[in-house]
Amino acid sequence: MRGAIFFSGKYGSTEQYAKWIGEATGLPVFDIKDTNADPSKYEFLILGSSILYFRLTIRKWAKANLAKLEGRSKILFSVSGAGASAKLNRWVKASLPSGLLSQIEHVPLRGKLDHSKVSWWLRKILWVGSLFNPDPQARKDERGGFDYMDKSSIEPIIKMIQRYQATQGAT
Ligand SMILES: Cc1cc2nc3c(=O)[nH]c(=O)nc-3n(C[C@H](O)[C@H](O)[C@H](O)COP(=O)(O)O)c2cc1C
Repeated sequence: MRGAIFFSGKYGSTEQYAKWIGEATGLPVFDIKDTNADPSKYEFLILGSSILYFRLTIRKWAKANLAKLEGRSKILFSVSGAGASAKLNRWVKASLPSGLLSQIEHVPLRGKLDHSKVSWWLRKILWVGSLFNPDPQARKDERGGFDYMDKSSIEPIIKMIQRYQATQGAT
């Protein structure tokens, strides 16, 4: 039984987590933009996706590859500014078909936002968005950027993967 990591990100945090998980487990890592990234070659899948504008960025790829994703064990790690919360669960739920979601173990991770890496107009959009955010810390994060990258937060994912790999050893 073989597994692989497929990630979708834009500014590097999701890729960094995917690489850390790959280094810790020996699983191959694919950017979903890579046309050779074929989930049907693997028995268990680790899907990594950033959250932009309240949605998983992997959602279109997941829908396009639905048949290849079904029937395989799957972990999803999301990478966002928001931490584990009901609103994050709502964004994930709104991004994926319910049948697929019911087969997934979701682990929320937190990323980073470096304002020097985004365009001035995007900074403006984030600033305007922050006016409507009721959470004072999230408002501050949207306006000034943040860095919540934490290598140790991948530990639960490593344990889940080791469980899959142990099952493989037993068969
Ligand atoms: C344009 C934009 C929109 C974002 N929208 C959200 C959001 O809706 N909710 C959230 O929690 N974080 C949001 N974030 C924060 C990102 O999820 C965070 O920066 C993440 O680390 C990005 O992952 P990446 O570096 O792999 O692209 C947004 C960031 C940007 C730049």
